Amino acid sequence: MKKNLLTRRTFVKKTSVGAAGFAITAGGISPLFTSINQNSDKLALLGGNPVRSKGSVLGIKWPVIEERDLEMYVDAFKNKMWSEHSNKKDENGVQFQEQYAEFMGVKHCHVTNAGTMALEAAQRAFDIGPGDEVITQTNTFIATAQSTLNLFALPILIDSDPETFMINPDLIEERITPRTRAILPVHIGGAVANMDKILAIAKKHNLAVIEDCCQAHSAEWRNKKVGAVGDIGCFSFQQFKALPAGEGGAVISDNEYLVARAGGYVNNGRDPHGKGRVFPGANLRPTSFQSANMISQLMRHEEQNKIRDKNVAYLEKLLAEIDGISPTKKYDGQTRRAYYAYQLVYDKEHFSGLPKAKFMEALQAEGIPVKNGIDSNVHKDPSVDAYLNLDSFKRIFSQERLDKYRRERHCPVNEHLSEEKGIALYHAVFLGPKKDMEDIVAAVVKIQKNASKLM
Ligand SMILES: Cc1ncc(COP(=O)(O)O)c(C=O)c1O
Repeated sequence: MKKNLLTRRTFVKKTSVGAAGFAITAGGISPLFTSINQNSDKLALLGGNPVRSKGSVLGIKWPVIEERDLEMYVDAFKNKMWSEHSNKKDENGVQFQEQYAEFMGVKHCHVTNAGTMALEAAQRAFDIGPGDEVITQTNTFIATAQSTLNLFALPILIDSDPETFMINPDLIEERITPRTRAILPVHIGGAVANMDKILAIAKKHNLAVIEDCCQAHSAEWRNKKVGAVGDIGCFSFQQFKALPAGEGGAVISDNEYLVARAGGYVNNGRDPHGKGRVFPGANLRPTSFQSANMISQLMRHEEQNKIRDKNVAYLEKLLAEIDGISPTKKYDGQTRRAYYAYQLVYDKEHFSGLPKAKFMEALQAEGIPVKNGIDSNVHKDPSVDAYLNLDSFKRIFSQERLDKYRRERHCPVNEHLSEEKGIALYHAVFLGPKKDMEDIVAAVVKIQKNASKLM
């Protein structure tokens, strides 16, 4: 049992006495649950005062913009090199590539205009195309699946591990067919997929490993940054991501050829090392403004990571005192997680049977911006059917194959987690003061005490 510092009963009892709040000192924790007392106990959903006053931002308002960001952006505008395609050292994109590769601990990086296109370019680097299959997961943003579907290949959507919310690695092997070309795990929410198992399966079946790290900047597997663990890693710098540039993306790898092919695809076939237009290509380049923004945002990225690490460690210490809500389990190899969507498991049994949706509503009313802990059920997304129904898909795949694909879109665990269990907090929530963590816990305890009134 993890609840060794205080029993839940003592905790709830303590937090419900004393009009001015008090400190809990057992086990060295001394959070001040000042907002919970007999007078402010009424749930915000029932007309009481919220734990966080209306309009107050928990954490910070994302993204951060300071003077330097503006200067670098305006400089990119003034120097009249808005479009960058020559792979020269003075381009903002090339400078960012060098800096990001160094930061990620890899030899090569190439920028793209979005994470979606980084994923497509990475698959093109392996010449994945019509008729192929790529194993990925249902719990991801639709872009992951679209990046495969856009190549007229099938994304095989694996169900989730109920304890980690990541791709269930034990369901991968049974879905491998002679058409399978790659495994594309998504480090969803910023936690890390079970890369030991995934790499072993890939090796056994001679498959590429393409990491979708669009939500997992700076997460690590066995002290290596994700994206550098498989064959190639894909990132998004879209505005809400932990490294934001409005839109933008990148591929990274130690494999020079793979990055050249992906980078070439992004830049009308141009080899990044000046060997001419030797690859298939399209124009998926970021502008110099985006790249200037990426450079500037990268300068504060690790500092922000450290603040998040600290706040989440404190939050976890506090949450360990409460039954019915706990962080998702992590795999042994996960040496650092990121927090794009910090997932928690909700157990209504400890909240008088209060359904997850109502719990979330109550938490939001208390001023805690909680969201679903499952990103999506891509296997049920109508966008996938839109592809399957295309004449072009019917030309490539037999009716039998498409019917089988439809039948196999069955991910009960992910649906259950989405419906009943998973909740999440956005990474910017963890960039404010320590007190914000106490407010999250105060709101949870307040709801737990009063849950029966919402039934
Ligand atoms: C897991 C995942 N993959 C891919 C993408 C696509 O990235 P972008 O929006 O930069 O195209 C996202 C963006 O939200 C994502 O969350």
